[in-house]
Amino acid sequence: MRYGAGLVSVAAVAVVLMLLGPRAGSGAESPGEKIVKGQCAGCHRLEGQAIGRRFKKAPDLIGAGDKYQRAWLLAWLKNPKFKFYPMGYDFQEDRKQRHLALSSLDAEAVSEYLGTMKEPLVKHGVMANVTLANIERGKARYEVLQCFACHRTPDNSAQGWTGGDTSTDLRESGKRYQADWLHRFNQNPLDFVPDSAAFVPTPTQNVTEQDVFDVTAYIMTLK
Ligand code: HEC
Ligand code: HEC
Repeated sequence: MRYGAGLVSVAAVAVVLMLLGPRAGSGAESPGEKIVKGQCAGCHRLEGQAIGRRFKKAPDLIGAGDKYQRAWLLAWLKNPKFKFYPMGYDFQEDRKQRHLALSSLDAEAVSEYLGTMKEPLVKHGVMANVTLANIERGKARYEVLQCFACHRTPDNSAQGWTGGDTSTDLRESGKRYQADWLHRFNQNPLDFVPDSAAFVPTPTQNVTEQDVFDVTAYIMTLK
């Protein structure tokens, strides 16, 4: 009888622990999540519907886990010298200031957490089989479509690049993007940045699915 009571109370404690356990667990933020929510969310959106650049202070980190290559993200967070938006993301002088840099430990934690933020629109494996012909054709299409008009692009000139200043610098693309994210973005930029004057491929502009694939393959060679 005493034994039985003991077992019951042990079982009761176990049940209480089981109830508390998951709750305590799901409330605990990882170090990376804590930093991102505490230090980054004031400027970067982490979730929500796609909205235009002019409504934001900084690029979205929504889907960051499918957008950035982990090694690049880690290195950039520690040393964010490279600027993507030469005119400032929101075209305001004060936002052109140096981006905050993280210690190695914090950068590790943050890139691990951002790595968990998946983009459901992205289909994985789309860009698996790229040939030299795709890349060459993509380069030609990129030039005809004048993507460089708004995006800095490497070239053979003395300064090493050509292009407009109004949007993302594409010079580090091959180190920075995951190819499948880039492909999905190029398929329809409006799904990511509506109302932002991004180039939208349409059949009237004579941009085919093959073009989107080839242009993506070419951009991934820019390093
Ligand atoms: C004061 C506002 C501000 C804060 C705080 C801030 N950022 Fe940024 N972030 C920006 C802006 C503006 C840019 C675009 C800068 C540029 O032109 O390259 C940017 C760019 C980035 C990029 C590159 C975006 C891209 O599309 O390639 C990443 C990644 C990033 N920030 C991560 C973070 C993380 C992680 C934190 C928190 C530890 C953080 N940022 C805090 C304003 C901010
Ligand atoms: C008229 C200017 C313009 C042209 C031309 C243009 N883009 Fe863009 N692009 C934008 C804008 C605006 C954005 C959204 C980000 C922003 O608000 O600056 C964008 C975003 C992008 C991004 C995502 C950047 C990021 O890191 O989030 C990629 C990739 C891109 N464009 C590729 C292309 C390609 C490929 C072409 C040619 C087929 C092209 N763009 C032509 C204006 C342009």
